[in-house]
Amino acid sequence: MKTAIIGAGNMGGAIACGLAQGTRVATSDIVVSNPSQEKLNRLKAQFPDIQTTHSNAEAAKDADIIILAVKPWVLDKVLMELPLHKGQTLVSVVAGRSFDEILSFLHTSSLHGRVPDISLFRVIPNTAAAIGQSMTLVSSLNATPQQQQLIMDMLAPLGPSMLLPEEQLAAATSLTSCGIAYVLKYAQAAMQASTELGIRPADSLHMVAQTLKGAAELLLNNHEHPAVEIDKVCTPGGLTIKGINELEHGGFSSAVIKALKASAV
Ligand SMILES: NC(=O)c1ccc[n+]([C@@H]2O[C@H](COP(=O)([O-])OP(=O)(O)OC[C@H]3O[C@@H](n4cnc5c(N)ncnc54)[C@H](OP(=O)(O)O)[C@@H]3O)[C@@H](O)[C@H]2O)c1
Repeated sequence: MKTAIIGAGNMGGAIACGLAQGTRVATSDIVVSNPSQEKLNRLKAQFPDIQTTHSNAEAAKDADIIILAVKPWVLDKVLMELPLHKGQTLVSVVAGRSFDEILSFLHTSSLHGRVPDISLFRVIPNTAAAIGQSMTLVSSLNATPQQQQLIMDMLAPLGPSMLLPEEQLAAATSLTSCGIAYVLKYAQAAMQASTELGIRPADSLHMVAQTLKGAAELLLNNHEHPAVEIDKVCTPGGLTIKGINELEHGGFSSAVIKALKASAV
């Protein structure tokens, strides 16, 4: 199954590495297109069988699946260059560009006055894709359950993924793609506090990261609301409930809710 990846930056590069390490696509069937040679060289050094090019049209020509991993302001230009044909699957990693916007651009652009019968996917990984730990969001349009499964399988090397209706994508992107920064912001604040408390940053980094990982694993394994796990730590009259109440006095929950709502657009 020939797969073209347009853009070899953070996302395109991570997807290319994930695909090359997975089993759904033969490495020699992956073509990556990017303007600068350096990123292509880096991919080639890691996976010599990957094909590379500077021409998006060349990459997409015979591709069954075309993955668009460019910045939003480059998307229209790239779409105009693609020789789309019936039966192809177009996967956009570009955040904030809806199916309607992509389709209406294809309809109005001179090259694609008539849009061929293609399947569309929107895929939103987060930066943990680079280490196979992304929470990846997937929406589809005009795709069969088999095609949906194929795309989910292809994305598996990046981490778990979840299929959602497009209407939920903005909110879910806030939770996962922006959310990873909010979780890291907690880690940063915790390390700031621990430095004042006299712990070496190298030690607190390990403690904070493992604590976050432990909390995440508890939620994923026990499938219970966070309140259940928090309650287990809060002995009446104990230290943790004092800290939890300080967080609330400082507006912690409210700040998290406001941040997630602000980035769910
Ligand atoms: N990073 C994230 O966490 C994240 C999460 C979810 C979604 N996204 C979405 O993923 C997309 C890519 O983000 P990114 O972080 O991977 O950006 P990035 O690292 O800047 O990668 C974009 C790549 O596109 C290449 N490019 C520029 N113009 C091109 C053209 N005309 N044809 C082909 N390739 C071209 C750039 O090449 P040069 O550098 O050589 O110019 C660069 O390698 C964005 O739309 C973003 O919304 C990102």
